[in-house]
Amino acid sequence: MVQKFAFTLLLAIAVLQFFQIDKTNPVANPALDFMNITNPPDEIATILKTACYDCHSYNTRYPWYTNIQPVAWWVKDHIDHGRSELNFSEFGNYTEGRADHKLEEAAEYTLNEEMPLPSYTWGHSDARLTDQERKFLADWFEEQRVILFSESTSGK
Ligand code: HEC
Repeated sequence: MVQKFAFTLLLAIAVLQFFQIDKTNPVANPALDFMNITNPPDEIATILKTACYDCHSYNTRYPWYTNIQPVAWWVKDHIDHGRSELNFSEFGNYTEGRADHKLEEAAEYTLNEEMPLPSYTWGHSDARLTDQERKFLADWFEEQRVILFSESTSGK
């Protein structure tokens, strides 16, 4: 009885493995990329790439466990959802109001430890940010709002 159940479960898990996720990154236009627009210092570029770009750009790196179902589906869902909320590869296409708002939220989410998603840092220790790095990144996001949209000086 138990043996039969275990076998059925194993078989079901094996069948799931046929449903691999699509790991092709869409072709991105470099001119629209947030980092090409803002040209950040190296420390910021490194944090963005290691802590945000896997879910918020077309430059996603897929770790080995994304070959295993159903883990891969769960990861893919974060990537699709992350890109739909904020896609740094499409940043140049955002309207001014949307772009500015996204940067405001990016600063806030980073400071409040909501981003990168805590579940992401389990498997990506290099994306665990110190308080200092969070502050540094959040301040830099705010700075970009002033540079790109003259937030504090526009008086709007
Ligand atoms: C593991 C994937 C993942 C990583 C890594 C990640 N995010 Fe997210 N992010 C998401 C998902 C999913 C959402 C949408 C759900 C939510 O708001 O929690 C989101 C939402 C956001 C939003 C809200 C956008 C809006 O308009 O509501 C901002 C801003 C954001 N992320 C910024 C960042 C920043 C900055 C980093 C890096 C420090 C980062 N994220 C890293 C997955 C990720």
